[in-house]
Amino acid sequence: MIEMATGLWVALVAGVVPLAGCLFWNWNDIRYALPHYLRGGSEGGGKLPPGYMGMPFLGEMLAFIWYFKIIRRPNDFITSKLGRYGSEGGLYRTHLFGSPSIIVSTPSGIKFVLQSDSNFRPAWPAPEIVGANSLVLVEGDSHARVRDFVLRCINKPDALRRIALMVQPRITASLKSWAQKGRISVHKEAKKVTFGNIGKFFAGFESDPFLDTLDDLFKGLMNGIRSQPINFPGTAYHHALKCRNKATAIFREEMEKRRRNASDARDDLMEGLMQMKDEQGKHLSDDEILDNIVSLVVAGYASTSVSITWALYYLAKYPNVLEKLREEHVPISKRMDGEYITYDNVSTCKYTGKVVEEVLRLANISAFIFRTAKKDVEYKGYKIPKGWRVLCWIRYIHENPEIFDDPTDFNPERWNERAKPGTFLVFGGGSRICPGNMLARLQVSIIIHHLVVGYRWKLVNPDAGMSYLPFPKPLHDVEIDITKI
Ligand code: HEM
Repeated sequence: MIEMATGLWVALVAGVVPLAGCLFWNWNDIRYALPHYLRGGSEGGGKLPPGYMGMPFLGEMLAFIWYFKIIRRPNDFITSKLGRYGSEGGLYRTHLFGSPSIIVSTPSGIKFVLQSDSNFRPAWPAPEIVGANSLVLVEGDSHARVRDFVLRCINKPDALRRIALMVQPRITASLKSWAQKGRISVHKEAKKVTFGNIGKFFAGFESDPFLDTLDDLFKGLMNGIRSQPINFPGTAYHHALKCRNKATAIFREEMEKRRRNASDARDDLMEGLMQMKDEQGKHLSDDEILDNIVSLVVAGYASTSVSITWALYYLAKYPNVLEKLREEHVPISKRMDGEYITYDNVSTCKYTGKVVEEVLRLANISAFIFRTAKKDVEYKGYKIPKGWRVLCWIRYIHENPEIFDDPTDFNPERWNERAKPGTFLVFGGGSRICPGNMLARLQVSIIIHHLVVGYRWKLVNPDAGMSYLPFPKPLHDVEIDITKI
C-alpha cells in the first residue's frame, strides 16, 4: 500500500508537475498561436512569425523588464530573439503589455505598418486617458481635419516664427535662475520650462501656481499612460484617470469662461480649436476640443523636456561639439544684440540641426509605436492576426550597427549625409508622423542657442548609468553645475 502511494507520488512529480510547468510556461502560445497552426497556418495568408508568447497574463513582460530595467541593455531584448529565431522578415510573435503582439524590427517592416492605415489602427494610449476624440486615436476624416489644423498651428513656418518669440522669455528667465541656483536637475527644470510654454501657447495659462497644479495633474496622467490599465484605487492608472478628469475640468472652465466673455479670447490653440469648423460649418464638440488639448499636452510635454535633458547631457559630454555650436551661435547672438533669436536664424544653423537630429536619434524617446491589426494581414509570408498588437520597435533601428555606423557614438557629423530611407523614425512615419516634430526641434535648438552663448555647465555624475523606463534618461535626472559665462 505504502509502495503504491509512493509510486503515485513519483509518477505525479515525474509526469504531472513538469507537464503542468510546460503548459504554464507556454500558455500564451497554446492559447493564441496553436489555434492558427491547427487551422493549417495559412488561413488569412502565411504562418505566424517565430517567437515565444510566454506565461498567462504576464507574457514576456518579465523578459522585457529584465532587459529594460534590470540589466539595462534594452536592445538585447531583440538581439536575443535574432539569435534564437533568425532575422528573416524581422517579425517575432510575443505577448507584451497585456496583448498578443507581433514585433516588427526592420525599416521596411515598420514602413509597411505605418503606411497601411487600412490594415492597422492606433493602439495607444488608452482612450480613457487621452480621450476617445483625440487626434492620436481617431481615424479617417476626423483625423485628417484636426491634424491639418494642428499642423497649421504648430508645424508651419509662420506658426513657428511666432512660437519662437513666444517661448524665449520663459527660457531665458529659467536659464538665469538655473545659474543663480548653481546646481540643478536638468530633467526637473526642463519639465517646468516646457510645461510653462505649453500652458501659455495651448490655453493662455501663465500664472506659476496655477501651472504647478496643472503640471502635477499631467505628471499623474503620464505615469498612468505607461502602466497596466487596472482601474482600482491605489493603481497608477486609477490615479491617472482622476488627474485627467481634474485637468479636463480646468480646461473646460477656461473654455466656458471664453464663451461667456468674448474679451477673454486669446490667440492660442484652444481658441483655434473652438473656432474650427468643418465644410458644413459645424464646430468641434466640447469633448473634441478638450480631448485634443489634453492629448497635445501629453504628446508634447514629456517628449520635449526629455529631448532638452539629453541635449544638455551630450553637450556636457562632448566639449568639441559644444565648441562648434558656440562658433555657430556667438556671431548670431552678437548680430541680434540682445534681441531674441528668430525661427529664421535657427533655420540657418546647419550644425545645430545635425546636433538636434543626433540627440533625438540617441534619446529614443518613442521606443516603440503601437498599432492593432484591423484584419488578418500578410507580410513577407507571415501572418499578423486580426486584433493582435503590432509593436514597431523603433529604438532597435536607431541603434543597429548595420544601419548607423558606431550607433552608440554621439556623432552629429553623421548627419552630413541623410539617413537611409526609413531609418530615422524618431517621429514615426505615414499619416500619423508627429505633427509636433518641427516644434520639438525648434525648442531644443532655441535652448541650445541660449545655453551655448551664455552658460557653462558640467555633469555632477558624468558616469551615471541609464534608465530606460518609462523613457530613456540618465539616472539622477542629469544633475549639473551651471554658471553664467
Ligand atoms: C522630441 C519630441 C517628440 C517626439 C520624439 C515625438 C514622437 C512622436 C511619434 C513617434 C509619433 C507617432 C505615433 C504613432 O504613429 O502612433 C508622434 C505623434 C504625435 N505627436 Fe509627437 N513627438 C514629439 C514632440 C511632439 C510635440 C512637441 C507635439 C505637440 C505639441 C507632439 C504631438 C504629437 C501628436 C498630436 C501625435 C499624433 C499624431 C497623429 O496621430 O496624427 N509631439 N510623436
